[in-house]
Amino acid sequence: MAGTRILFFHSDPARSRVNAALAARARDLPDTEVVDMAARYPDDRVDLAWGAAVEAQGLLAADRIVLQFPIHWYAGPPLLKAWQDAVLTRMYYIHAETEGDRLAGTPLMIAATAGNGPTAYRRGGQNGYALDAILTPLKATARRCGLPWHRPYLVYGANRMDEAALATAATGYAGALRAFAARTARTAAV
Ligand SMILES: Cc1cc2nc3c(=O)[nH]c(=O)nc-3n(C[C@H](O)[C@H](O)[C@H](O)COP(=O)(O)O)c2cc1C
Repeated sequence: MAGTRILFFHSDPARSRVNAALAARARDLPDTEVVDMAARYPDDRVDLAWGAAVEAQGLLAADRIVLQFPIHWYAGPPLLKAWQDAVLTRMYYIHAETEGDRLAGTPLMIAATAGNGPTAYRRGGQNGYALDAILTPLKATARRCGLPWHRPYLVYGANRMDEAALATAATGYAGALRAFAARTARTAAV
């Protein structure tokens, strides 16, 4: 489907509060598809042949891509890495001309949730590094793949959000997705 393709990675979606609320809100937006990757790959494995081929076609049809996930141990969940290893390897090393070169230019946005608050993600804070710095490997991946990097949508304090905070985070996500779509809208050929 053209439009915004959100790949939602979570190790245990049934227990998710924050990402589940964000995904639910995103599903209400026009031209937006949320793909529950854990439902597709429940054993955290994406095979390089069939699975990666299906995922590649989904990405090639999209106008923009969002990777949505909770931060686990200063990185994304294992399925995100499995997706990179299978899908990006297929597209950029095995079928570079027919897939990777065609995907290049598709804008990418990260939407990540973190249990710790913003003060933990500072020099001298509990985690010592900004969340933006922790996303550097993904930024480098986007650069390698030619996927223009859009400002991430980050939710802090995700372990202790009441209903009002959840609603605020979901509304913020909808706004960030709308802004992403507006900034990266395809201009009609004349
Ligand atoms: C195994 C594991 C590792 C985690 N590591 C971090 C971490 O490194 N930094 C952090 O801020 N939160 C960490 N968290 C908290 C999660 O980011 C938080 O629970 C999640 O964003 C909440 O979203 P959810 O309700 O969709 O699961 C971790 C949680 C788990 C289960």
